[in-house]
Amino acid sequence: MQLLPGFRDFYPDDCARRNYILETWRSVARRYGFVEFDGPVLEPIELYKKKSGGELVGQLFDFTDKGERHVALRPEMTPTLARMVAARERDFKKPLKWFCVPQFFRYEKQQRGRLREFYQLNCDILGEPSPAADAELVAVVIDLLRGFGLGEKDFVVRLSSRTAWQEFFARAGGQPEDEYEFFQIVDKAERNPPEKTDAALAKFGLTAQQVLDFMRSKTATAELAPILADLTARGLGGFVEIDYAIVRGLAYYTGVVFEVFDRSKNERALAGGGRYDKLLSLMSDGKTDLPALGFGMGDVVLANLINDTPAAKAQLDAWLARERAADVYVVIAKEERRPEALALVQRLRDAGQRTDFPLTAAKIGKQFQTAEQLGARIAVLVGDEWPQVKVKTLATREEQFIAADAVLACFQPST
Ligand code: HAM
Repeated sequence: MQLLPGFRDFYPDDCARRNYILETWRSVARRYGFVEFDGPVLEPIELYKKKSGGELVGQLFDFTDKGERHVALRPEMTPTLARMVAARERDFKKPLKWFCVPQFFRYEKQQRGRLREFYQLNCDILGEPSPAADAELVAVVIDLLRGFGLGEKDFVVRLSSRTAWQEFFARAGGQPEDEYEFFQIVDKAERNPPEKTDAALAKFGLTAQQVLDFMRSKTATAELAPILADLTARGLGGFVEIDYAIVRGLAYYTGVVFEVFDRSKNERALAGGGRYDKLLSLMSDGKTDLPALGFGMGDVVLANLINDTPAAKAQLDAWLARERAADVYVVIAKEERRPEALALVQRLRDAGQRTDFPLTAAKIGKQFQTAEQLGARIAVLVGDEWPQVKVKTLATREEQFIAADAVLACFQPST
């Protein structure tokens, strides 16, 4: 049977690489004071039809379940998060700083950086209107990527604002109800030929040139200036550029928006997000009104960039080597001593040592080979000399006989 296009098998090596990304995400998000939450994989389709909008609705994996409910596999977390917080808003002290690492499904054309199934870290702050929250969010994005050994020369945060585009649109006589359509045209203006953009903008009395000129003005608006100042105070200013080409595709964004790209522009966006100050109110029919902002960072583009960046790749490889390595291999030199060897294996494992041993009788040379292949630091040989055992440091080949009872004292507990 063939794997579905855009889906992945995770063999142990792939799983380790995935876990490296997920664990690094979790550790940096926690360092910033974000706490983890999760939601269901399946949601009523209306949640995304009404709240996400744009391209995403055409990319849903949706079906009718046995109870005749029209449902979709989750393509993103923001509508779920808004629903969850709106339902129990009073239970939580503001601002909320929540993160999650869900698996998502989008029926996209499979290509570099885009699959139909992927993981995405989300960090969101709810209940804080101040630009300090926007800066905190951009800072965590930067530190997440730095956590993988990526630096200022490898990626850039492109900071923008839908408010700036709203004002531009209003100045040209545009109506608020047409704003989202206008944003979608702006979103594609850099990629589409100018004639196509001109044709789409004609009904608003605007031209591609006007839109592209505004896009290329790099001056920070009053909304963006304090965010830049905050990030500069943290020493992170060099990671950020103002770029009005960013408007974001999803419907719910209201103000500041941003996307993160690799500097060499070989990849799709690494992450994207912004403010969605109206979504909770929309979700709760006006009962809950909380300002909110967040971003999503996917694993696929990130893995490509790590692979193509030598320092980041070296950090990943070192992590993988540590992750794979056993601490101890117990060599059973005399099968008659298997019960004693099993007791020793058990004690080592109880003490937190990653310990392996031959499940069936094998030649001593073969066992040492296996120990090397598993990356074990130490081999403990159980044989004729029992209750003494031979402890061998595999890298240096140093060896010594010690009492089996004293073996545990040779090891520091694994951290
Ligand atoms: P998004 O821009 O749709 O935003 O996705 C964010 C990131 O997820 C992208 O920059 C990319 O790295 C990754 N991604 C998206 N689609 C795919 C795909 N088909 N394959 C691989 N990676 C993909 C959102 O999802 C918003 N809900 C983020 C957010 C959270 N905004 C506020 N809070």
